[in-house]
Amino acid sequence: MIISGKELSAKLKADMAVQVAGFPEKYGRVPHLVVVLVGDDPASVSYVKGKAKASEVVGIKNTTIRKPADITEAELLGLIATLNADPEVDGILVQLPLPAHISEAKVIEAIDKTKDVDGFHPLNVAALWQKQPCTVPCTPKGIIRMLKSAGVEISGKRAVVIGRSNIVGLPVAKLLLDENATVTIAHSRTKDLPSVTREADILVVAIGRPRFVTADMISDGAVVIDVGVNRDPETGKLCGDVDFAAAQQKASVITPVPGGVGPMTICCLMENTIECFLHRQ
Ligand code: GUN
Repeated sequence: MIISGKELSAKLKADMAVQVAGFPEKYGRVPHLVVVLVGDDPASVSYVKGKAKASEVVGIKNTTIRKPADITEAELLGLIATLNADPEVDGILVQLPLPAHISEAKVIEAIDKTKDVDGFHPLNVAALWQKQPCTVPCTPKGIIRMLKSAGVEISGKRAVVIGRSNIVGLPVAKLLLDENATVTIAHSRTKDLPSVTREADILVVAIGRPRFVTADMISDGAVVIDVGVNRDPETGKLCGDVDFAAAQQKASVITPVPGGVGPMTICCLMENTIECFLHRQ
């Protein structure tokens, strides 16, 4: 079975659109998401456009602020301070990566925790790991949603996550653990990685290397979640971290790239924006 994140996210966005349509009468306005894009990296430009488009579908107000790549760190922090203080801004997202002269850690920390729709602020991260109320990062949240919607039982299963980033690997491992999976976090330096991944009932791959996961790394009937977004070195087309054609023969459930995890990330961003808005009311 191929899980379509595109279809599921379309359904969830339609439900959110109905919810948001009732907000002006109830609260006098709709949620407002501000996305800050520094520079003109084509992948980031495309992601930011996707976020604006989804906002339109859901009925959320979206402001995209574009700044040149040579903006100073102080100027960017100043912009964030202004957005933090604006009572009509509910969510702030600064698109990553940032140019090398700007500290991503400083920028993430500068965003008001209650407007941190990414769930990247250290206080949000700490709350997640302490099972306290928090903003759950969009991609990990979207992955759990997809698994549940596909009827995948997580409890009692062995999950292997390849990748240990703050954005995906670590939080998705934590969420799987919270669903009572037994989780192994592997990475590019894991010794004999295939012997580890072959033990997985659920394999989540977020390493950022085209066709990194081959059929021999997947056990028969495994659930394979591909978080990769890469350019295929041969065709130049978008591809995941998993050799999809080969993996499809072995997996019971698999996500495609594009059209799998990506749309779910944006969908959960919409949900997080609504949650931040509702907390302010
Ligand atoms: N760059 C790639 N993914 C993300 C994301 O989820 N949030 C932000 N802010 N930047 C990203």
